[in-house]
Amino acid sequence: AQLAAHQSAWEGPKDALAKDIAACTRCPLHCNATQAVPGEGPMDADLMVVGEQPGDQEDLSGRPFVGPAGQLFDKIAGQAGLERHKTFVTNAVKHFKFTPRGKRRLHQSPNGSEIQHCRWWLDAEIAQVRPKLLLGMGATAAEGLTGRRAGILSRRGTVEQTASGTPILLTLHPSYLLRLPDPKAKADATAQFRDDLAMAVKLLD
Ligand code: URA
Repeated sequence: AQLAAHQSAWEGPKDALAKDIAACTRCPLHCNATQAVPGEGPMDADLMVVGEQPGDQEDLSGRPFVGPAGQLFDKIAGQAGLERHKTFVTNAVKHFKFTPRGKRRLHQSPNGSEIQHCRWWLDAEIAQVRPKLLLGMGATAAEGLTGRRAGILSRRGTVEQTASGTPILLTLHPSYLLRLPDPKAKADATAQFRDDLAMAVKLLD
């Protein structure tokens, strides 16, 4: 019975919106990706976490933030007191954009047009879940949520708003932390990211 209760509260990939997202051909990214990756989590979540786009593992599994960036997010979220299973986790762009390089698929950032086309789905997810707070991770999420990608390093840790008034806390993307080569810069950015996640928890208190 406990499992059934959990499953009924967890409407993820199977709900109607996710099915519409799965069939999306609004931009060319659907041509090469394995599948669209819709958001998942409780449909009544107070917090919606928005990343950039699915990575290699997300594209294969159909679930957001299950690869290295997702594992780092889960770890730091745990340290900040943020419970992932209570949040709705999604991306600004629903298909993986990549360049084939031998057997590997190298991540490519989505462009403005792709972000703009996918805003349809991000807005639909926000309208459905109606979170009290959006956490936008990285420049692509900032662009999908606010229309502006510039200046994420100075905007992080600050709160902006959607057109309909939902607060948006901006932060760094966990992949950015993974890519930083300098250990001191990595430690500092990780601490900032942790502080931002803790701020999200506090804003929802
Ligand atoms: N990076 C993202 O932005 N989203 C994912 O789902 C995985 C990696």
